[in-house]
Amino acid sequence: MPFPQDRPRRLRKTETMRGMMRETHLDVQDLVYPLFLKHGHDVKDPVQSMPGVYQLSIDALVREGSALQALGIPAVLLFGLPGYKDAQASSSFDPDEVVPRGIAALKEKCPDLLVITDVCLCAYTLDGHCGIVKDGEIANDQPLELLAQAAISHARAGADIIAPSDMMDGRVGFLRDSLDSNGFEGVAILSYAVKYASAFYGPFRDAAASAPSFGDRRTHQMDPANLREALKEVRADIDEGADMVMVKPALSYLDVIRAIREAVLCPVVAYNVSGEYSMVKAAVQRGWLDEKAAVLEKLLSMKRAGADFILTYHAKDVARWLSS
Ligand code: PBG
Repeated sequence: MPFPQDRPRRLRKTETMRGMMRETHLDVQDLVYPLFLKHGHDVKDPVQSMPGVYQLSIDALVREGSALQALGIPAVLLFGLPGYKDAQASSSFDPDEVVPRGIAALKEKCPDLLVITDVCLCAYTLDGHCGIVKDGEIANDQPLELLAQAAISHARAGADIIAPSDMMDGRVGFLRDSLDSNGFEGVAILSYAVKYASAFYGPFRDAAASAPSFGDRRTHQMDPANLREALKEVRADIDEGADMVMVKPALSYLDVIRAIREAVLCPVVAYNVSGEYSMVKAAVQRGWLDEKAAVLEKLLSMKRAGADFILTYHAKDVARWLSS
């Protein structure tokens, strides 16, 4: 018997051979681009901790939408920086606020671009918490009505998909019922079902001005140590009517994506979060990493783990690289 009998290198000889053997592919259709909306005209304010990411006014958002469509990116995820914040998060469901107005403007100019909206109270409350704080604790049930009003205001403006990110118990079922009873049974729910209390959201909280003024999010977001609990969260959300489930962050949780992919039938979504973006960007700025190679490898790993699509701040660069 000649040594060695198996020579895996036979199938890696040329790029053509490697291309035929490739098991996983990254496609522009897999990408969702997150965007931050603020008041004003012709505003494009850079986010310091996220090079290449901007806070945009609605007119700038609409221009961005056309550019994204030209690149073949199918969807955006919208976050709002409201004009005011109060104890009841009133601006989260104000139809004159940036998110509902942004959705309507985008839908008018780019009707085929799918619009996903983040539904949470943290950018709209004075204390930056995802719910309403009562006796020093984040209440669970009281914010549901507010979240439902926010979701309905987004649906009314034309959102295709609502993405609750607050991690309150029972909110998917509550939102599904509220959407349905308001005539929005066609609006899908992408649940942030498995959202860990992660250090990797730091730069985002700059971008969305949503850092908590005291305490943290560990009483509602998940403990990074837990996998079985992730499966429990996913099953509960699917039972309550979630159409898709998300794992967030992605890079440190590829095992969680894989386990969920094997456990459910619905689309599984990965959120390549702000900290994961900024660490690559920082290393690239110092000349320590090859940006294109590092980003493509990172996103491919999320697909290989089982994600159907990926929310990523790298989406525009990736779309350009994939088409060149
Ligand atoms: C809102 C929300 C957060 C992110 C998405 N939606 C922040 C948080 O939970 O503190 C993080 C996204 C990112 O880091 O890119 N609750």
